[in-house]
Amino acid sequence: MKIVGIQSSPRGEQSNTLKLVNAALEGAAEAGAEIESIDIAKMKINYCMACNSCHKTGVCAIKDDFEPVLKKLLAADGIILSSPNYITNVTAQLKTLFDRSPLIVHEQLFDGKYGLSLTTAGSGEIDFVLGIMDNYIVQCGGKAIGGVGCVMSEGPSAMEEAIIKSREMGRDLVKAIEEKRQYPEQEARQQAWREQFKHVILANKEDWTHNCDYWMEKGWLKE
Ligand SMILES: Cc1cc2nc3c(=O)[nH]c(=O)nc-3n(C[C@H](O)[C@H](O)[C@H](O)COP(=O)(O)O)c2cc1C
Repeated sequence: MKIVGIQSSPRGEQSNTLKLVNAALEGAAEAGAEIESIDIAKMKINYCMACNSCHKTGVCAIKDDFEPVLKKLLAADGIILSSPNYITNVTAQLKTLFDRSPLIVHEQLFDGKYGLSLTTAGSGEIDFVLGIMDNYIVQCGGKAIGGVGCVMSEGPSAMEEAIIKSREMGRDLVKAIEEKRQYPEQEARQQAWREQFKHVILANKEDWTHNCDYWMEKGWLKE
């Protein structure tokens, strides 16, 4: 079983959020997973150009560090997303990765994968930021198992607690994958999305040939 942790703070080894990612990855490793950490803030990932190439061909037209990251995400059973709270949102680095993901969303390529979200903030709104990352996982077809956040102004004991919780959640991520844990509310959302998005796929079937073939193969156009 493979778990990939995404770090998106520009502060490298100084990052508070990295402490939570490391703890979650350690927990996952203790539970038997093979782990890998990816610092996307150190990579060259450009903005999506909205060229629709991925929908036509299944491949992004931009040649940069996104493709190797995508390969690792698609090969993983579990994905740990992390970001500090930047203006009640994720960092631009993580949002840029999200915006490069239309193929993952259109073809629900995280189907069968599980995600865990981690954040730290100077003063608050951690649930809002965790929600943004959980939403990405579900939007991509995966299941979000929950998250851990730490408000730095609450002092060192809050960080100690968040590290312990992140380690536990890392272990729980492995358990969720092993038991193929069900999340009926997330599955209902994904089914409703497919029902609505079917019309978008059909309306673009001449152009989005890769998406359309994929949907036919999956039987989603008949649902
Ligand atoms: C550009 C920027 C925007 C930030 N915006 C917020 C914010 O809206 N709310 C908040 O509570 N903290 C905010 N912070 C504080 C960070 O979330 C906090 O210091 C976090 O722990 C940094 O994580 P890191 O060490 O992993 O980079 C901001 C920090 C920066 C640099």
